[in-house]
Amino acid sequence: AQDKRESLYVLSSWAGKFFKEQLWNTEVGQSIGLSYFKERGYREEIIKKFDLGYSPDQWTVLSDAAVAAGFHQDYLKEIGLSIERDDGRVYDRFRGRVIFPIHNLTGRIIGFGGRTLKTEKSVPKYVNSPESEIYHKSDVLYGLNFAKKAIMDNDTCYLVEGYADVISMHQAGVEHVVSSSGTSLTTGQIRLISRFTKNVVILYDGDAAGIKASLRGTDMLLEEGLNVKVLLFPDGNDPDSYVQNFGSSAFKEYIDKHQEDFIFYKTNILLKDTGGDPIKRAEVIREVVQSIALIPDEIKVSVFIQQCSRLLEIEERVLLTELNKMRLQKA
Ligand code: GTP
Ligand code: MN
Ligand code: MN
Ligand code: MN
Ligand code: MN
Repeated sequence: AQDKRESLYVLSSWAGKFFKEQLWNTEVGQSIGLSYFKERGYREEIIKKFDLGYSPDQWTVLSDAAVAAGFHQDYLKEIGLSIERDDGRVYDRFRGRVIFPIHNLTGRIIGFGGRTLKTEKSVPKYVNSPESEIYHKSDVLYGLNFAKKAIMDNDTCYLVEGYADVISMHQAGVEHVVSSSGTSLTTGQIRLISRFTKNVVILYDGDAAGIKASLRGTDMLLEEGLNVKVLLFPDGNDPDSYVQNFGSSAFKEYIDKHQEDFIFYKTNILLKDTGGDPIKRAEVIREVVQSIALIPDEIKVSVFIQQCSRLLEIEERVLLTELNKMRLQKA
């Protein structure tokens, strides 16, 4: 079994080199893939650092080259580089896409994300490697291998939605950043972060999906005992587009200025929709207390209850009663 895992790692690493080779050393790779990355504002050094690549728009180039290089077809299927059709013929999963390799903590490639260059809505924007013996999605954070030292140095971890966000932030000089890459945040991923820091700042996209994911992510992080701040980007921007539109220093200034403690964040978001209605306001208070009730540390709980009391102009005693009721219901 150990031999098999090792073979899968070797195959993934070979595929990573194949995609890089296509990007840098073929005419289509350069004119389509490399120009795509450059148009997105990525410099060559960052493209190299993240091992970015290109998969040609053909059906079997990678599968054929891998078999010619001596790799077993079963392993290609197992890590999802090849897909078998009903009639037994095999084709490449990644075709005509730019490639973002996914590394584990020690920097070995364990999977890939491939972004389409097409703009049609019918084409999925990203195709990703499936779960495999070496790629357990719920225990992987994209970029963590490049970020871990910076996370410890800064004692903070920025959490973003996508591959492009991680890369643009690195290019902007902010290296303590990881992404859960589209999958909703898991407890395994949170425990991974908490090996390096207890402080997380959520930097999600400024759209409805981003808001929803930020509220869910906040509760999960609080429950695991982490300290949470949140920031959303304006007008549908994400960290990547903000860096590219406004530049690195404007980006850094924006994130320094606008990150908010989760209580302010959640309260403000929820209060926006109440229009002064007292019943809706009561519901907001209850929802904020619900998040506080998840925090395992009693001292923090009492600090946040005080804060909440001031912010919402409700007596602490009332909030504490509500909090204890919620805990009883959960137990
Ligand atoms: P860009 O358009 O390249 O900047 O992508 P993005 O990272 O901004 O994409 P978005 O905010 O829409 O999604 C965030 C993350 O979700 C992506 O980085 C992907 O990991 C994942 N994702 C997005 N679209 C798809 C999709 O169509 N299929 C799958 N499986 N994952 C997706
Ligand atoms: Mn798994
Ligand atoms: Mn999004
Ligand atoms: Mn995005
Ligand atoms: Mn984006």
